[in-house]
Amino acid sequence: MFSGRDPRSDFPILHQTVHGKPLVYLDNAATAQKPRSVIDALVRFYERDNSNVHRGLHTLSMRATDAYEGARTRVAKFINAADPAEVIFTRGTTESINVIARGLGAKLKAGDVILSTEMEHHSNLVPWQQLAKATGATLRYVPVLGANAEGGLDLAALDTLLTPQVKVFAFTHISNTLGCINPVALLCARAKAVGALSVIDAAQSIGHGPFDVRAIGADFVAFSGHKMCGPTGIGVLYGRRALLDHLAPDETGGGMVSHVDYDGARWKPAPERFEAGTPNVADAIALGTACDYLDGLGREAIAQHDKHLAQLAYEKLSVLPGIRLLGPTGERSGLVSFAFAEVHAHDVVTFADEDGIALRGGHHCNQPLMRKLGLTGTNRASFYVYNREEEIDALVVSMRRILKFFGAS
Ligand code: ALA
Repeated sequence: MFSGRDPRSDFPILHQTVHGKPLVYLDNAATAQKPRSVIDALVRFYERDNSNVHRGLHTLSMRATDAYEGARTRVAKFINAADPAEVIFTRGTTESINVIARGLGAKLKAGDVILSTEMEHHSNLVPWQQLAKATGATLRYVPVLGANAEGGLDLAALDTLLTPQVKVFAFTHISNTLGCINPVALLCARAKAVGALSVIDAAQSIGHGPFDVRAIGADFVAFSGHKMCGPTGIGVLYGRRALLDHLAPDETGGGMVSHVDYDGARWKPAPERFEAGTPNVADAIALGTACDYLDGLGREAIAQHDKHLAQLAYEKLSVLPGIRLLGPTGERSGLVSFAFAEVHAHDVVTFADEDGIALRGGHHCNQPLMRKLGLTGTNRASFYVYNREEEIDALVVSMRRILKFFGAS
């Protein structure tokens, strides 16, 4: 899949046992593991270059600044941004979406509409609820179709929902619970046609395949480093340059000002305008290394690998008694969400852990969607470059053990 290369040996954490069993890590949608090159980049920075950026003229500061700005350029290339200044470093997807939502505050008013979807993670839902409350705008949702949301987004509903009153259309690329892949280029084009800004939550997609902000036609994109082999605590807000320079900064202070007086201040342009204070230098640099790593494997190869494993898992799990599988029956991203009629999702996680398997169980920050589907939670197996087909077999064996224990087999 990766030109004969097995990425597994690049990830030190995978070579351990849990409860005496080889670790099977299937919680990649929550966070991905880190390759040696990313870990080394962090250590190298702190051992050799650690210094503050942009402010110092000494050698270490210049080295740190070059590496930090180099990472910005690297990330811009990774997503095909027109200009590195369109890449703002944040703490992650959640902060990125909050920066956009709060930055748009002054531009919205009563009568305006914010459109989102019923499948959003709380991070792409609550900030818009807050913005609606603060401005008097109305928040509406594109419905999901099917008892198990197998139909994905109701695209026909866009005809009535996407009116000229819509100022922002915020949607996920890949649902962290359903695994469906939304047609983001189409959604951006539809938003643009009514004069709305498009905001893409790319947390679950950016590390799992090609992503070209210009081909997609996105206005804003948010993603996290830690789901794409990078460190925690670093993420990106991409925005088109023309938009960023008119977005109010969320945080003020040092580094983001061009001129300060006792009675006021002026902001620098992007990206500094949105990066007040000392940034997360080491993690940004290591995020650049993660981009190198993923490009080295091949983004299309990653997409095929992850989709293949998820499809295989979907098929192998579907024969288990009392199982309910969510999301598309056809092509899906690298995750599968399922619920057993007779076993609570948290019990499943506990049993799987005894078998060395790291699974997810709960509402996955998707409470409204869970309620709509009549569920309190699901289990989720999510795959990445180092997972193998035999790990799916281990998952199925473990699930059979659980069902037998609960008398459900
Ligand atoms: N957003 C992460 C998930 O879906 C934590 O699990």
